[in-house]
Amino acid sequence: MNKQLLSLLLAVSASCAWAGGEETFQNVCSTCHAQGDKGSPKIGDVKAWSKLIKEGQANITADGYAGVRAMPARGNKPELSVAEFGSAVVYMANFAGANWKEPDEAMLKKINALIDKRNTAKK
Ligand code: HEC
Repeated sequence: MNKQLLSLLLAVSASCAWAGGEETFQNVCSTCHAQGDKGSPKIGDVKAWSKLIKEGQANITADGYAGVRAMPARGNKPELSVAEFGSAVVYMANFAGANWKEPDEAMLKKINALIDKRNTAKK
């Protein structure tokens, strides 16, 4: 494959991943997180999100995916993968000033391990 084509493909896939997070946010998470319904951290609320950002990407993604307090597991959308859910978390965190990347393989591994822990603790 020539270099130009490769960089074009990379650019397209990077922008798709970003759009994916936004789309999931709009379709699923915005029900609560657009307005801060039920005590959820509202998108763009820097104060609420900076606390979560400090907890770290793997931790809060796992919390949300497994469900925590009034946050329903997977935002009530059981078919969401960890990658899709994680992408929406990145979208919201970056909206409040974080500089998180789309979860890569290493990050997904970390998140999955934490989700297992959360789910075991619940049983
Ligand atoms: C039915 C409402 C609702 C929907 C839909 C929802 N959330 Fe939440 N979310 C909440 C509430 C409420 C909290 C605050 C939970 C608490 O701390 O008590 C929360 C907290 C969170 C947190 C912080 C978890 C932590 O560690 O404290 C993350 C991350 C999150 N949501 C991500 C998402 C994502 C991503 C989606 C969409 C895929 C989503 N949420 C959809 C209600 C919702």
